[in-house]
This record gives sequence, structure tokens and C-alpha cells, in this order.
Amino acid sequence: MQTEIIAHRGASKYAPENTMHAFTKALEMQADAIETDVHLTKDNIPVLMHDERINRTSNGRGYIRDFTYEQLLQFDVGSWFAPKFADAKIITLDEFLSWIKQTNMRAHIELKNNKVDYDAIETIVYQHIKNHSMQERSTVSSFNFESIQRFQQMTESITLAYLTSNITKTKRQAFEKHPTNALHIKQTLLRKRLIRCSKQKNIPLRVFTINKISQMMRCYDLRIKGIFTDVPDVAVEARCNWMTRKD
Ligand code: G3P
Ligand code: MG
Repeated sequence: MQTEIIAHRGASKYAPENTMHAFTKALEMQADAIETDVHLTKDNIPVLMHDERINRTSNGRGYIRDFTYEQLLQFDVGSWFAPKFADAKIITLDEFLSWIKQTNMRAHIELKNNKVDYDAIETIVYQHIKNHSMQERSTVSSFNFESIQRFQQMTESITLAYLTSNITKTKRQAFEKHPTNALHIKQTLLRKRLIRCSKQKNIPLRVFTINKISQMMRCYDLRIKGIFTDVPDVAVEARCNWMTRKD
């Protein structure tokens, strides 16, 4: 088994995160998958951005949920990163799925509903995945465990993952009661006990965010299922070196 390389918000070290520029870069760099973050606009259109507000990654201000999709199109989501990306516009989940479907990459769709609990985001996202027949190539994740459980009740046809930066008693209990197909953890949680436990229970781990070669090599040695990285080119090269070394 080789560790899956997942471009975190696209190849986000090289182009503005969650834009087509970052996604096409990830494809060029031969990532196995792309991770992206989903919010709902005022008119319930799923769009891709990391933060709940557009302030950091656009030339506008305010919450995504307070703008219609049409209104969001007036903002430039690229020049905060570099002037040459000034043409970048916020993209919809629909546009992303139409594009990725034509590649051989997997889609890691993170519901960003741990701060704003968007009403019916699970049904809306599921419908989009189905419309593009991307059920087999998509994984849906969230820091909001209840949302993942709602998704679980709705369908068994999509792989689901809890996302977490810490392991609390409540989270452990939630996981035991409603296990998901995978667990996506912050790299500081990558300890022997958790690795052993995940192997015993046959629950793959994916780890975020891995940008250093030494961390990548450790994940490859541990046969971790996947790593989220801002630098897929570095991860692909490191994986080639790791494989050569292993032979
Ligand atoms: O899905 C892994 C990772 O994206 C979770 O953290 O904050 O980068 O969305 P964040
Ligand atoms: Mg994310």
C-alpha cells in the first residue's frame, strides 16, 4: 500500500488555496487527490473557501452565508496571494466536481460546518456528489461529528471521515458508537497508540498538514493511508525516493 498524497486546498503553496489555479497545479504535480472546504452561500450554493468569512482570501469582507453566489462573484480571490492570480473567482462545488470527475483524482470534501452549522449542507453536498456520479471517488469529512453522523444516516454510499485536532473522551465515544470509514487527524496526534488502535480496528488514518520531507517519510514508513499537503510535488518526489530506498 502506498500513502495517498492529497493536495490540501489544492497545491496551496503555489497558488491561491481552493481556486482552480491551485487545483490544476495539484493535477500537474500528480497528486492522488484534492482536499477542499465547503460552505453554503445565502442562496444555498455550496462554494469552496477555507474560512467562514471572505476577509483573508479575497478583496471583500463578510461572511459567506450573508452573500448570494452571484454577489460573491464580484470578489477577487487570487490577488491576496499574488497579483498574477487577480482573475480568480470563488468556485462552486459543482464546478469543482465537473472538473475533477474528468481526472483520475479522488475528492476529499470537507464540510466547514464546525463554526457555522449550515442548514442541510449534508443533503445539498450529497446531491451534488450524486449528480456527478462521484460517490466512489469522494470522501466527505468534517470537524463537526454530528454532521458526519447525519450524513451516515442519509447514505452508506460515500466514505466518511471525522476530522480532529484532539482526541477527547466525547470524541472517542462518538467514534466508537458511530465509526466512520477513516479518521483524519492533525499530525501531532500521530502517536504509536493511535496507530496501533487504527490498525487493529482497520480504520485508516489520514494526517494533516504534512509539508516537511521528514514528516512525509515517517508517514510512508508507518503506511499511513494518506497525507494532506500544501506541497504535493515534494510529497510525490519523497514517495519515489522512499520506494527506491525500500526496494
Ligand atoms: O481535511 C484536512 C484539513 O483540511 C483540515 O484542516 O483547517 O486545513 O481545513 P483545515
Ligand atoms: Mg480543510
